[in-house]
Amino acid sequence: MTALPETSSATVGSTSRSFPEGFVWGAATAAFQIEGATSEDGRGPSIWDTLCARPGAILDGSDGTVACDHYHRWESDLDLLADLGLTAYRFSISWPRVLPTGRGEVNAPGLAFYDRLVDGLHERGIEPFVTLYHWDLPQALEDLGGWRNRDTAFRFAEYAALTQHRLGDRVTHWTTLNEPWCSAFLGHASGEHAPGMTDPVAAVRASHHLLLGHGLAAQALHGGRRPAQVGVTINLYDVVPASDARADVDATRRLDGMQNRWYLDPLFTGAYPADVVADLAPVTDMAFVEDGDLEIISTKLDHLGINYYSSFAARGLATPAPVPEGGRPTPWVGLEDVELADRGLPQTHMGWDVDPDGLRKTLVRVARDYDVPPIFITENGAAYVDEVVDGVVDDPERVAYVDAHLRAILDASDEGVDVRGYFVWSLLDNFEWAWGYTRRFGVVRVDYDTQLRTPKSSSRAYAAIARDNGWL
Ligand code: FCB
Repeated sequence: MTALPETSSATVGSTSRSFPEGFVWGAATAAFQIEGATSEDGRGPSIWDTLCARPGAILDGSDGTVACDHYHRWESDLDLLADLGLTAYRFSISWPRVLPTGRGEVNAPGLAFYDRLVDGLHERGIEPFVTLYHWDLPQALEDLGGWRNRDTAFRFAEYAALTQHRLGDRVTHWTTLNEPWCSAFLGHASGEHAPGMTDPVAAVRASHHLLLGHGLAAQALHGGRRPAQVGVTINLYDVVPASDARADVDATRRLDGMQNRWYLDPLFTGAYPADVVADLAPVTDMAFVEDGDLEIISTKLDHLGINYYSSFAARGLATPAPVPEGGRPTPWVGLEDVELADRGLPQTHMGWDVDPDGLRKTLVRVARDYDVPPIFITENGAAYVDEVVDGVVDDPERVAYVDAHLRAILDASDEGVDVRGYFVWSLLDNFEWAWGYTRRFGVVRVDYDTQLRTPKSSSRAYAAIARDNGWL
């Protein structure tokens, strides 16, 4: 078993501790990563279908055509959730399933799938937490400029409103965007994600239109006929300097600026961080920000979703690092002279540092620096290499990872942070974006040849913590 970092107070199976009453226990997935059926029942193509078709874009050359075949196996997948005793499920709706060209006529069979899913959840006593955008933009909108085009923000709000119109009698918890940082900067600056562009100016522009789309959608959801609890999910990292050298300290400010404050500030203070805007000035101005946009973006939210996986140690370089042959440009626009230092922490199969105390620090920082609504950890989990032995998957590293991060949440709660729930990423092994099917995050294993599901020991360990609302 991988040792936990020394900074963590977490040890599997130690002292008895409880989460606040009513704490929500869930698992998360996303449409493109599990559904498959990409051309069934009138679904339109998404930017991820397009990227998957580009040679070399996906590590194992795979795509989302079948994925976990969840589109056909959703009932037994919901039974898995129920067997684990989880009371909430975070899933995303595929925009091109509902609106094949992103706008106009609703594709009734596509929307009907989510109708059945929501009913199936309620039948099992599981609360749906719906994410409207987990990266699968309709290709038809990309053809019109995607998120670089301001108009897409308005199309997103229309899609949000019509989805709520159909599901709002049974869905209360809505998340507009999942990790808009990835859509903007992995999608347009490093090019690792769809639409696979490497244009830093486009990335910054897209980041603004995504936030605008969030604000417009949040307003549309609040303005609907049904009561809606609305939030957005951002991916935050604890960023520390690699040393106390001045260059590292400044690199930390800049990296934290582009990764965390670029989202937290507009959402919760109604302004982009001035230092980051100044850092970006050699790359782009902010002419795409129109009067009133920031007011829309800072629309009051009912909850904040935080996805936390890891932390960064930033090192400032004397000269910008050249992009290695066959490598990708940095997703952090203007930070060519910043690198991530190796702290010798244990790492997951993604190569991400395991740092549970970074989650505590992130939560405490967010609550200290911003006026935030109640927080849900909408994703947390880890990829490890695991295997089936005699029909059993034993994944002690994932058990330890989840345990340690849950304890870090309680540590933050003890410091006064209002965290209301946790969604493990992920219910199932699935299509891990540019990594294809080579990285397994599930607490349930999926055999992609047979679609057999095998709950891993992490699913049972997690279910026990959820059942006991902590450690007895
Ligand atoms: C997050 C994504 C999610 C999954 C995990 C590992 O960035 O939201 O879809 O890929 O990482």
